[in-house]
Amino acid sequence: MQQEWLHPPVTAHRRPADEQESRSANGADWDRYADEYQATHGEFLGDAGFVWGPEGLTEADARILGDVKGRDVLEVGSGAGQCARWIRSQGGRAFGLDLSHRQLQHSRRVDEITGVVVPSVRGTATDLPFADNTFDVVFSSFGALQFVADIDTAVAETARVLRPGGRFAFSITHPTRWMFPDDPTEEGLTATQSYWDRTPYVEVDDETGRTSYVEHHRTLGDWVQLLAAKGFRLTTLLEPEWPADHDRLWGGWSRVRGSVTPGTALFGADLGHS
Ligand SMILES: C[S@@+](CC[C@H](N)C(=O)[O-])C[C@H]1O[C@@H](n2cnc3c(N)ncnc32)[C@H](O)[C@@H]1O
Repeated sequence: MQQEWLHPPVTAHRRPADEQESRSANGADWDRYADEYQATHGEFLGDAGFVWGPEGLTEADARILGDVKGRDVLEVGSGAGQCARWIRSQGGRAFGLDLSHRQLQHSRRVDEITGVVVPSVRGTATDLPFADNTFDVVFSSFGALQFVADIDTAVAETARVLRPGGRFAFSITHPTRWMFPDDPTEEGLTATQSYWDRTPYVEVDDETGRTSYVEHHRTLGDWVQLLAAKGFRLTTLLEPEWPADHDRLWGGWSRVRGSVTPGTALFGADLGHS
């Protein structure tokens, strides 16, 4: 969905975008935006904090991942590694993977500030640089999944690196948000687009003509099918409510919209034993 930061003039489209186009646009985009993202949201996220989305639901409260102590854990789309660092503080062996070099530089910066190091690698969710059966838990908090075109491959890669019985959890923009303009005010409460239109959201830089940002939409039903097809058993679908005392504005997320309609969907699933 439309981004919250100021960028060169762009024109928004709904049109197809494949994995290669999505990846090169989004990697460069997160490199450009990382400094501002961390300056704006770093305090809310916490250097070693685990927040699942703009509503502020924490893993400490939600316990979607189960007990992580002694577990091998991968955060996909780890950004500055805040969530993985929280896992480390709970005794888990957490690692990070992110597409953006600049986000990973922030991760190193926060490693040094906190003294809690999250070993991290640059890579993409559709080609995880790990052996089969490496992790007990793979998770993503608003990380890669909505930025990936080839979602079948991303879910298959997750299943491949997980051990049998392993846990997969991720948060994304709630699919119903794709019906509405990405506007945190009352204007963002009137449905203007079809929920079933899976055509990607694409921004094109007006000056260079290059694709500068891509986001992909799947319905709730699509996600259930995707997970089941790769051997996962869905156990959790949370739609966190906006807390009454929470006044944060985050792109299209706000108290105005959050008190009426869900902004985040959080899935938890276990990999079946083969
Ligand atoms: C909204 S941030 C979330 C990061 C972190 N969980 C947080 O809450 O700050 C999304 C992250 O996903 C990363 N990302 C986007 N596409 C990706 C891909 N295909 N593979 C891995 N990471 C990706 C971006 O670089 C960015 O750091």
